[in-house]
Amino acid sequence: MSKRTIVSMPGDGIGKTVLPEAIRVLEAAGFEADYVHADIGWEFWCKEGNPLPQRTLDLLEKHKISLFGAITSKPKSDAAAELAPELRDKGFVYYSPIVGLRQHFDLDVCMRPCKTFKGNPLNFIRKGPNDTIEEPEVDVVIFRQNTEGLYGGVEWTNPPDDVYAALNTHPKFKKFAAVPKEELAISTRIFTKKATTRILRAAFEYAKKFGYKSVTVCEKPNVIRETSGMMLALARQMVKEYDGIALWDTNIDAQMMWLTKNPEDYGVLVSGNMFGDIVSDGFAGLVGGLGFACSANIGEKVAIFEPTHGSAPKYEKYKRPIVNSIAMILSACMMLDHIGEVEIAAKTRNAVAAVVREGKVRTYDMLKLRGSEEALDQGAASTTEMTDAIIAKLK
Ligand code: NAI
Ligand code: MG
Repeated sequence: MSKRTIVSMPGDGIGKTVLPEAIRVLEAAGFEADYVHADIGWEFWCKEGNPLPQRTLDLLEKHKISLFGAITSKPKSDAAAELAPELRDKGFVYYSPIVGLRQHFDLDVCMRPCKTFKGNPLNFIRKGPNDTIEEPEVDVVIFRQNTEGLYGGVEWTNPPDDVYAALNTHPKFKKFAAVPKEELAISTRIFTKKATTRILRAAFEYAKKFGYKSVTVCEKPNVIRETSGMMLALARQMVKEYDGIALWDTNIDAQMMWLTKNPEDYGVLVSGNMFGDIVSDGFAGLVGGLGFACSANIGEKVAIFEPTHGSAPKYEKYKRPIVNSIAMILSACMMLDHIGEVEIAAKTRNAVAAVVREGKVRTYDMLKLRGSEEALDQGAASTTEMTDAIIAKLK
């Protein structure tokens, strides 16, 4: 079989630190691929007025599969001030390139697994009966709709007249009728049947393939009747096709409480865009937080794999990098699964698990130290040492 080509988009800050580390692991694990670099992020905003250049979109269009590090986003006014002088006041507006990628390639299925690694000092613990300490084993995979809902971008401050007129036709809008139009800010929550069905299908298929006993729709249909209601109704139809999988539904607020009470009870979760964002961060906190949280953005043609964390720019400048490479490495494992290299993925995850279980090599976050270079003198492993330890377990 011909070698795969993977588009490598390190982006900004620690994205540039962790992505090459993941590639080192992939190579050591025996995954044969060529990597083509693609430009994305702050540097290209400043130099070109576009953090997501067309040449990067072309590479993704061509090769379909990508590893992504992280990008830096800054508020509008800061972004404008950092533009190259010749580009200023020319109408360039900053937008987040990762949100741009999700929209451009319709990467509507976001997957965020949160699984306990035994021996991780960051694992969630709770009190059991008679003052015992329990460490529940979390094995949850969150499916988050990635392109619609509250993050769909259909919003206004001081809405145009036709929008305002349309809103006025809704009986519930009466209570806002006395508010001056310019004092109104409106963000819409739009769900489509197509995208909702796709995220549900992805969740149920995953549960079936990997033997999960339940799929939980985590929304708020008792209050947000139309959108959450649509997702739950479609799930109730769909579950009939899946023998042996139970459909549960929880409200997002209650779920945030239950996730510390009984996280071991959940399997596959599925949510709209914002609730999926929230609940996945919640579960990630139980299994090690940002140093461990991996994710995939999957569309019909293109798929991009990235750690959940951002660019943590203050850590980029350290001579010996300190951040945990595991989140990026686990994201690369998700890529391997996606393209059918499941054995290499399993081998790599086992190597990560072995290093965590052994507990000899721990980055600063795993030692609960302050994130600074001094952590390395206090016993923390550097990014490179963590990666080396994982590679050693592959042999
Ligand atoms: P962040 O995720 O970059 O960092 C928050 C803190 O988490 C860090 O200060 C560090 O203490 C810890 N952390 C993050 N990654 C870690 C790792 N691999 N190992 C150990 N500790 C780690 O979030 P923050 O500081 O809110 O944002 C920084 C920049 O990143 C912003 O410009 C933001 O817009 C951007 N961002 C980009 C994302 C993306 O590219 N998908 C996602 C989130 C934020
Ligand atoms: Mg988030």
